[in-house]
Amino acid sequence: MAALPFPDPSLTAGPLALRAWTQADIPAVVAACQDPAIARFAAAVPAPYSEADARAWFASQEPARRAGLRLELAVTNSASDGILGSIVLSGVERVHGRAMVSFWVAPQARGQGVAAQALWLLAGWAFGALGLARLELFIEPGNAASQRVAERCGFVREGLLRSRWVSKGRRRDSVVYGLLAEEFREKRTDPPPAAMTKAEQALAALPRVIIVNGPAGVGKTTTARSLAAMGHSGACVHGDDLKGFIVRRDAPVATGLGYRNGATVAGNFIAGGYDLVVFDYVFEDPAGVEVFLDAYTASAPVHLFTLWADLPTVLAREAQRHDTRRPLGDRVRACHAAMESHLDELGEILDTSHRDVRAVAADICQRACAGSGLIQPGANRRSPGRHP
Ligand SMILES: CC(C)(COP(=O)(O)OP(=O)(O)OC[C@H]1O[C@@H](n2cnc3c(N)ncnc32)[C@H](O)[C@@H]1OP(=O)(O)O)[C@@H](O)C(=O)NCCC(=O)NCCS
Repeated sequence: MAALPFPDPSLTAGPLALRAWTQADIPAVVAACQDPAIARFAAAVPAPYSEADARAWFASQEPARRAGLRLELAVTNSASDGILGSIVLSGVERVHGRAMVSFWVAPQARGQGVAAQALWLLAGWAFGALGLARLELFIEPGNAASQRVAERCGFVREGLLRSRWVSKGRRRDSVVYGLLAEEFREKRTDPPPAAMTKAEQALAALPRVIIVNGPAGVGKTTTARSLAAMGHSGACVHGDDLKGFIVRRDAPVATGLGYRNGATVAGNFIAGGYDLVVFDYVFEDPAGVEVFLDAYTASAPVHLFTLWADLPTVLAREAQRHDTRRPLGDRVRACHAAMESHLDELGEILDTSHRDVRAVAADICQRACAGSGLIQPGANRRSPGRHP
């Protein structure tokens, strides 16, 4: 059987990344596998668990992958590379387009939706790059957390298989869950947003302004609305709507008016008690960002995220727009080219090519809470007199 490839590019979503295991991970695996829940529910994990068990497991991984039977991936924190858990694609039967998935999450990383995110990532890759048609999970009836993880990823409970396997010396039942490739695509299942840690919740409670930038055709407006809805009180300032104030265009228009108006309105919402203000507009280069920041007088931090997709993708999306009031044509190309030449100066870049807007919004929320894309730290209230 053909070897199973490692996902390339590697699979990441928000703060999670899936990667191959390395020997350096052995201590983290040994520590995690002392956990009674892993000992109880992870059938392939011996109990008690020793370093020798970890070494034997690591040694078995590459032959199984090369034989096309099993792909073992570490679930890590993408920032620290710390081990959060394990996810395995096994029982791969290419002829039937089928495989099963199993996972565990280290006790200290639980309660943040790690397993659901990892499962969602692996499922997307298995249905996409690997071309599988069906994924299966076999979960013990008493494992409520694991069943919830399955449901959050769109798996359907298909039945109870009695006395299906022996684990830890006992015959055990399994609830079988299945997910088909077309269901995954049709439901456009988003990566289930990871629940926030307490630190993130505290950060999320701080008022903040998030600029959602990008060329036409990357889903800025819908992403921004979805993102604003994640605040306790969220406002979405759509830059193009600010142009609605203009009734005659024959007067000379001040450069950067849209950025200054956006900054003023965003600041007013913050002053009015809103905790999340999203401004979506086109910033082709850092000059517009400077104009925005210069006009911004509120104390809440400002983050800048630029949504990105390659030119063929944005052109195709623009062509599908129902809004024919704005035939953009060459303007889309010009804007895309201008922004591309300044991408490293436009905050944090998120590729949206193959992602649902709600997933992108959840990703921005998490990144902002982790301090990403920050272009103006908070508590920087300027004296109004400085900016007449
Ligand atoms: C199952 C496991 C991987 C889930 O870890 P996790 O990603 O941290 O999961 P969470 O704590 O975020 O919980 C996932 C969901 O289950 C729910 N849940 C957690 N414990 C629960 C319980 N005892 N009863 C009911 N629901 C529970 C959570 O509320 C959450 O639901 P939500 O998404 O609606 O908020 C982890 O508990 C584990 O490693 N268990 C031991 C090994 C194991 O069981 N592996 C699976 C073998 S099939």
